[in-house]
Amino acid sequence: MYDFAPKGDQPKTELYADLAAAAKALVDGERDGIANMANLAALIWQFLPNLNWAGFYRNVEDELVLGPFVGKPACIRIPLGRGVCGTAAASGETQVVPDVHAFPGHIACDADSRSELVVPVLREGKVVAVIDLDSPVADRFDAEDATGIEAIAALVAGSI
Ligand code: SME
Repeated sequence: MYDFAPKGDQPKTELYADLAAAAKALVDGERDGIANMANLAALIWQFLPNLNWAGFYRNVEDELVLGPFVGKPACIRIPLGRGVCGTAAASGETQVVPDVHAFPGHIACDADSRSELVVPVLREGKVVAVIDLDSPVADRFDAEDATGIEAIAALVAGSI
């Protein structure tokens, strides 16, 4: 049994340090990428408040394909360059979207989503996946969330 848990009212820097330590412990010694992505999605969901979707899209032959996640069923395939996920994958740059309705081409998988954070996962300079977090709260994600999830992406890039 894994017994990771956020401590409650922690400052974000501590929360992300604990999340990173838990993520490292979860994937250490396991080489199955699907199992690792499934556990990481569950872990992120457990640690971060105010999410309605948390998971992975994988870059499969230059198209994003749905990976393990927590949340409502979602779009399965997203072309590179389309929506928030496709933009992050095509540019290799984190996307922090305070209001998804204002993002041109946003793909609405869950009508509850108001804000979104998408972080590319890079292996040897190539985007192999993105981590996608959606929130029902507008402006839910800030630069600290982006840095925190980027750290997780770097930590697990070799394990997914
Ligand atoms: N909103 C995303 C699509 C994926 S869902 O949010 C799970 C986008 O615009 O890329």
